[in-house]
Amino acid sequence: MDYQSLFAAALYKQLKEQLDQEKICQLIEKPKYSEMGDFAFPCFELAKIFRKSPNQIAGELAEQLECPPLFEKVEAVGGYVNVFLNQMEVSASVVAKVIQRKEQYGSLNHGNGEVITIDFSSPNIAKPFSMGHLRSTVIGHSLARIGEKNGFGVVRINHLGDWGTQFGKLIAAYKLWGNEEKIRVNPIKELLTLYVKFHDEAEHDASLIDEGRLWFKRLEDGDQEARELWKWFREESLKEFNSIYELLGVTFDSTQGEAFYNNKMERVVQLLEEKQLLKESDGALVVESAEEMPPCLIKKKDGTTLYATRDLAAAIYRHEAYGSSRSLYVVGNEQTLHFKQLFDVLGKMDYEWSQGLKHVPFGMMLKDGKKMSTRKGKVVLLEEVLKEAVDLARQNIADKNPSLTDKERVAYQVGTGAVMFHDLKNHRLNDVEFSLNAMLKFEGETGPYVQYTHARASSILRKGGYEENTEALAFVDDQAWRVVKGLMDFPEAVKRSFDGNDPSQVAKYILDLAKSFNQYYGNVRILDAVEGRQEKLSLVHAVKVVLKESMYLLGLEAPEEM
Ligand code: ARG
Repeated sequence: MDYQSLFAAALYKQLKEQLDQEKICQLIEKPKYSEMGDFAFPCFELAKIFRKSPNQIAGELAEQLECPPLFEKVEAVGGYVNVFLNQMEVSASVVAKVIQRKEQYGSLNHGNGEVITIDFSSPNIAKPFSMGHLRSTVIGHSLARIGEKNGFGVVRINHLGDWGTQFGKLIAAYKLWGNEEKIRVNPIKELLTLYVKFHDEAEHDASLIDEGRLWFKRLEDGDQEARELWKWFREESLKEFNSIYELLGVTFDSTQGEAFYNNKMERVVQLLEEKQLLKESDGALVVESAEEMPPCLIKKKDGTTLYATRDLAAAIYRHEAYGSSRSLYVVGNEQTLHFKQLFDVLGKMDYEWSQGLKHVPFGMMLKDGKKMSTRKGKVVLLEEVLKEAVDLARQNIADKNPSLTDKERVAYQVGTGAVMFHDLKNHRLNDVEFSLNAMLKFEGETGPYVQYTHARASSILRKGGYEENTEALAFVDDQAWRVVKGLMDFPEAVKRSFDGNDPSQVAKYILDLAKSFNQYYGNVRILDAVEGRQEKLSLVHAVKVVLKESMYLLGLEAPEEM
């Protein structure tokens, strides 16, 4: 049990009649100032129940409190019961725990191995990997690791946009104006050019739209030429996407995109029919939605299926194939309605598990306050942007530490880490301003700052000739105590970030820990300490372990030197 829960249990002995233990635990605060102790229980809510002043209640509670082990002092101040931990013993125990459990420290098992699928990244074939897809990739990758850390079995799914009417248009465009050679050299750019041209031309030649529709129909019917072209476009696109994933260190358990569900949609339509949910509307098949949502389109007039149809089939398939009880869809804000409709239809189909489906939306990536768009040829090639981040990191490293041995590798770790941290440090619903210079700074709330802190801890350990030691652990002063408390907070940050599908909880946690550690390092002699040198090194080691693990949860690597 953690210390907060122990305190809650002790209070509960006296407040059984008034509050349950969980509520007590929620009420407990962590005071900002160390004079107020380590935990504080406010008595204001109890004033009405007891018909006494909060001060009086706090006084009585404090007097009667049976202090749990490792708590050494209780005080009643200003309507609060403040308790103080025994810093010496708690520090020893926390540091020992971190050193023994290593990267397992902070791992929780409330997931109980339950399976959760996370649908993320999911770029569209034949289109550039957009900034929105980058956000989904970074957030989803982190949520997957956070899910595992919480004891869930995570299935990572890249629901590639590899099916739909746009491929009919693309094939039509290729047949009219395509050049195989050019596409081989620069696939995504060329395919995008074709797609854009198709739309421009279609504005004054409506027959093109029919042509595109026809090709999609052929594709869905299994026409060989259509299939082969589609397959080729898909493969070329995947090559480019994969190089981005490799750069970021992102992996998937499944890259079955929309096309995978082609032969699974008929069953969905049948099921919908059996449940009498399908209605005809202008020749198309729809499911009417609850509330004020437009109906969910299942099949078009010409019999072709839609994005939503494939998502229905995918949800059912995933539940059956993986036995998942929860699913997260990490997809931009603008698809909120789509997911509402999707979950609504699945609910109407009486799938109880649809309760466990959740859209995890996020805001936009902005450049100079404006949306970074991929349309109309205004392409931001993500791979180039990432490489630019790495270049800038390389320069910074050359300035700071010209003698570094593994420069190239560290430049990659820092460049990509900067982009990821910058994305994750604020709540995902906020828009993100994409500024390479800001994200690559070594000071402030950046990836390089936390990586640098880790490298600094590693360097102290190297210089101090530290050898793992689980005995000499506790040497405490005020500065060290702040750091120890930071270490203690890690499991809670792990839980919070999972509960809110919110990696920024981990990012904020890292920044706090890094700040208090840097302060400690700035004020306390470690390497030439007269007293407690081994103990201090143990604390540094524990910080290094937790920094590294928490960075891992965000997808960041932790360089030993930089
Ligand atoms: N490919 C889609 C897009 O770029 C995102 C897919 C998200 N996942 C899903 N199951 N619908 O807009």
